[in-house]
Amino acid sequence: MAETIKIGKVEVAKTAALAPMAGVADRAYRLMCKEFGAAYAVSEMVSAKGICYSDRKTAELCTVTDEERPMAVQLFGSEPDFMAEAVGIVLEYKPDIIDINMGCPVPKVVGTGAGSALMKDISLAADITAAAVKAAGETPVTVKIRSGWNAESINAVEMAKTLEAAGAAAIAVHGRTRDQFYSGQADLGIIRDVKAAVGVPVIGNGDVTDAASCMAMYEQTGCDLVMIGRGSYGRPFIFEEIAAAAEGREYVPPTVEERMEIMLRHIRMMLEMSPKNEEMAMHEARKHAAWYMNGFYGSAKFRGRCYQLSSYAEAKSLADEFIKLQLDRMHRNQV
Ligand SMILES: Cc1cc2nc3c(=O)[nH]c(=O)nc-3n(C[C@H](O)[C@H](O)[C@H](O)COP(=O)(O)O)c2cc1C
Repeated sequence: MAETIKIGKVEVAKTAALAPMAGVADRAYRLMCKEFGAAYAVSEMVSAKGICYSDRKTAELCTVTDEERPMAVQLFGSEPDFMAEAVGIVLEYKPDIIDINMGCPVPKVVGTGAGSALMKDISLAADITAAAVKAAGETPVTVKIRSGWNAESINAVEMAKTLEAAGAAAIAVHGRTRDQFYSGQADLGIIRDVKAAVGVPVIGNGDVTDAASCMAMYEQTGCDLVMIGRGSYGRPFIFEEIAAAAEGREYVPPTVEERMEIMLRHIRMMLEMSPKNEEMAMHEARKHAAWYMNGFYGSAKFRGRCYQLSSYAEAKSLADEFIKLQLDRMHRNQV
């Protein structure tokens, strides 16, 4: 068994967690990752104000199924009162943890003063956190931040200390500034500095793509838990690879046939979760299918074809064709 850490009262295996990813890490994605051993998952970000004003999508966004636990629901917002009210609404769905997004760089979110805009207003960030902590009662509240707003204002350490004082039960740090969006390399040094400055668990995030980079994140930062976003695209089994490394077990990656079966299962799950709208679910599934085929011989062409998929039957026959191509190539290389 891997070691565990505690976020508030919630026990989490010290392997790797799935990062929140709006438009990607929906329930089907989270379930796939959990099945392969993700230690912890976070929902797609939900607008605090949005759920206070309308309950249309709240259930869809905030429901936590037992298979996804331990799981956090992530809120974003820029007003302490709305945040507190939203936490009250979210608690009805019994999340294990409530996470606050203070790292999102997209203009639509930053423009409202939320997400990484809060890296520029630490005192408001603290008020939002304190309001959420008060409203959450026993449920731990965590915050996800970046290294700073830009290279001239790297303030993750000060931010983390202030948020800890406001009651945050853990701090996740993506080692990039807001200005970097997703470019350049994540700075592990800032994660190490945050870890050295606070007493609550620190979750390190940025550019982990396999067991080796995960172990490097643990070793170079001393963080308590590693969180993976894009490295899980088309590879939910990355969590198994990491759990195996953490437990000193041998890991055998899936064969191409197994990989395609995992992809098809993922697509079936997406379709089951959207029974009334196969077309929309297949549209969503296209990018996932393309990711599952990434990195193989001839995959560029197949990825293009993934973006044309409009039914499960088409996905199945594309997967069969893909397997045949890979096996034929392996055979040719052997003779
Ligand atoms: C498509 C996409 C959507 C994201 N959505 C969220 C989100 O809803 N909330 C959040 O805190 N971070 C979000 N992020 C940031 C990730 O959680 C993570 O911090 C970032 O991708 C860096 O980690 P990685 O290098 O492992 O991908 C998103 C990232 C991507 C690529």
